[in-house]
Amino acid sequence: MKRRTALKAFGFGIGGAVVLTSGGLGVYYYAAKLDTAGKVSFDKALSIPPLAESTTDASGARVFTLGIQPGDTRFKAGSATRTWGVNGTYLGPTIRARRGEQVEFAVSNGLDQDTSLHWHGMHLPAAMDGGPHQVVPAGGTWRPRWTVDQPAATLWYHPHVHGSTADHMYRGLGGLFILDDETTEASKLPSEYGVDDIPMIVQDRAFDGNNQFEKRVPLLGGALGVIGDEVLVNGTIGPYVDVKTRLVRLRLLNGSNARLYNFGFSDDRTFSLVATDGGLLSRPWNTERLYLSPGERAEIVVAFKPGEQIELRSYPSEYGGTLGRINGFDDRLDICRFRAADTLSDSADIPSTLGVAPDLAGEKVAKERSFVLASDQINGRSMAMDRIDFGVREGTVEVWDVVNDNGFLHNFHVHDVQFQVLTVDGGKPEPHLRGWKDTVLLAPGKHYRLAMRFRGHTDPNSPYMYHCHLLLHEDNGMMGQFVVLDEGEKVGAVAQPHHHS
Ligand code: C2O
Ligand code: CU
Ligand code: CU
Repeated sequence: MKRRTALKAFGFGIGGAVVLTSGGLGVYYYAAKLDTAGKVSFDKALSIPPLAESTTDASGARVFTLGIQPGDTRFKAGSATRTWGVNGTYLGPTIRARRGEQVEFAVSNGLDQDTSLHWHGMHLPAAMDGGPHQVVPAGGTWRPRWTVDQPAATLWYHPHVHGSTADHMYRGLGGLFILDDETTEASKLPSEYGVDDIPMIVQDRAFDGNNQFEKRVPLLGGALGVIGDEVLVNGTIGPYVDVKTRLVRLRLLNGSNARLYNFGFSDDRTFSLVATDGGLLSRPWNTERLYLSPGERAEIVVAFKPGEQIELRSYPSEYGGTLGRINGFDDRLDICRFRAADTLSDSADIPSTLGVAPDLAGEKVAKERSFVLASDQINGRSMAMDRIDFGVREGTVEVWDVVNDNGFLHNFHVHDVQFQVLTVDGGKPEPHLRGWKDTVLLAPGKHYRLAMRFRGHTDPNSPYMYHCHLLLHEDNGMMGQFVVLDEGEKVGAVAQPHHHS
């Protein structure tokens, strides 16, 4: 076998060096630092996911139909890539709903295996959450329904079948779920979808020689999972956006399985962070860099000058540690080009006050808990579908102390709630962590104290998840389950899954 072929067979198509030792299993992989700055041709218009259509039923609920299906997607010249999508072949439509509306979904599974759709960041009954207990069997349809009851935010949806989340997401399932309310509507932030309010689902993929997605996992230090060498935005490789207004809002989602992005612009210009996972910040925060770990979102507003061209990039980040290079932390990646028109229509200035800041710091704390993440476990235990780890009391505020104890990158996501980061290692959190969050990066060794209030939707038998959002870790068991209990209720037992269609 030719050396090149041998390398491909091991899944290393690019960069780095591989040393085959006499032991056979001793394959050493040292990933070269990737630097695509200035090397991406940016010759395709950014694909904008369509807004999902809906109908209104007799009760006034908005009903959306989402079909999960396999397909072929043409990302680049040559063969099409076998992918999965929602109402299409890759990713899915952007769902948009307003606070106070009742929404219902008909989620049908056109795959040949179980999957699910979870509404990441949504406050809703656990039985509607789309987590590992709400599997949609192959050929089946699932009809969750709830009332949107939280501030405007950029949320998202993705599969959450235990053990297969990484695979299902890598194949292409997922999409944005934008919530609106009076505050954002009155805010004068850029808001024309796809024009000056642009969704950006940022993902990395590795392609094999036949343009198929390859699960390229570095063997040494590859404990984070798949790291791809090409960046896609909404499924477009090398996208450009034609800018027509002075200000543009970008809704960024790190939709990757494992890669961390440290966003910035090619001229290091300042941009304004206006919203985090759970909605608007109380005031904009100006920065040149913003990192997002898998699952996190940010809304930023960028100012453009007539006629200029500028690239959104991911820059090296400080979180890599010794194995960081292998896991992509030293990489510099060109993501998207913005091409400003020769005349730009003016935009209203970014308001100096935006949303309502988290307010849990002074609350009475009903319970403190601690969570240690290490070795694909939380507090020394792996996820078990039939074990509910604890119950929280409805209406109370809890503080969770979370620490990443093993040196690799982890993050922490909690279903049902948006939390406030009270402190990081005893200090005030960085400005971009001062808004409502549902997912937070855990820098190795640091203690994150998260405050959250549980309200409504009690159910002793239907758990919500908390987990690391690096999908390999989640699949491997770095996840736990909790229930929200009413006065006097006790933790119940997880309902046995019953398959029906
Ligand atoms: Cu985005 Cu439990 O997940
Ligand atoms: Cu979630
Ligand atoms: Cu992890």
